[in-house]
Amino acid sequence: MATNFNYPGMERWKGRVAIVTGASAGIGYELSKRLVQLGVVVVGCARNIAAIESLSQELSTSGGKLVAMKCDVRKEEDILSMMSAIKSQFGGADVCVNNAGLSHNSSLLSGTTEQWKEMLEVNVLGLCMMTREFIKQLRERNVDDGHVVHVNSIAGHGVANVSSLHFYSGTKFAVTALIEGLRKELRDLKSNIKISAVSPGRVATEFLPRLQGRENPKDVIEEVYSKTAYVVLQPEDIANSVIYILATPPRMQIHDMIVRPTQQD
Ligand SMILES: NC(=O)c1ccc[n+]([C@@H]2O[C@H](COP(=O)([O-])OP(=O)(O)OC[C@H]3O[C@@H](n4cnc5c(N)ncnc54)[C@H](OP(=O)(O)O)[C@@H]3O)[C@@H](O)[C@H]2O)c1
Repeated sequence: MATNFNYPGMERWKGRVAIVTGASAGIGYELSKRLVQLGVVVVGCARNIAAIESLSQELSTSGGKLVAMKCDVRKEEDILSMMSAIKSQFGGADVCVNNAGLSHNSSLLSGTTEQWKEMLEVNVLGLCMMTREFIKQLRERNVDDGHVVHVNSIAGHGVANVSSLHFYSGTKFAVTALIEGLRKELRDLKSNIKISAVSPGRVATEFLPRLQGRENPKDVIEEVYSKTAYVVLQPEDIANSVIYILATPPRMQIHDMIVRPTQQD
């Protein structure tokens, strides 16, 4: 679907640099596309960057540009080398959307420690390392209007009766606490750098096919989500929510925007 609405507040991000983690699929992919169409220079990162590279080709005549960088957010060295590449190529970044995330099919009684570690490392530690490094370079550059957006989840606000998602829900509850903690740290510094989040309900992405261990997750999105009893969200709905958050004036900080499918419990 084409971008059919624009936010005047996005003007101030034109030509500036936004990092989107997990840009190779789902919400991050759609968000990267929209930001580039609005004139933003997007550094899209993930472990598999082929999809980001081909999106970058597709968007070559758009207002902004998309640069793919390989980065496993579990690895501090990957994050540091990406930040240093951003510094040498662009001087720095002004927006950071911590979107990379996953859930395994991993209940509290039968999940494996490896599965729990990966979820903690991506959903919590990766998000914290990215945020720390991002804010550090903003402050070194004396940029006081940067914006961090965490992609949280409704699972970060309530524990659904879905055992496969209980550990995941724990990681997203941590994100809920981290948003408020960071807000307080930035406020104590009298910083105008903003911290916001969006908490989606069910969105048709590779999230569930990956949780189910499907071989080609991208190819079965429709099949998997057609089994949901209600109409699910599309990645563009969350991309537009993030754009709304970024387009707010400097005085206004959206804390955590919950966006559910209309019929979801
Ligand atoms: N879909 C939903 O229903 C839903 C609901 C609420 C919240 N969310 C949240 O939305 C965010 C995006 O998920 P999605 O639904 O768009 O899922 P998705 O389609 O499966 O995309 C997940 C993205 O995260 C990246 N990723 C995973 N592990 C990574 C790692 N170690 N390092 C770097 N990138 C990594 C993946 O890229 P690579 O595999 O190429 O590294 C991929 O680009 C997640 O934080 C998720 O928790 C999703």
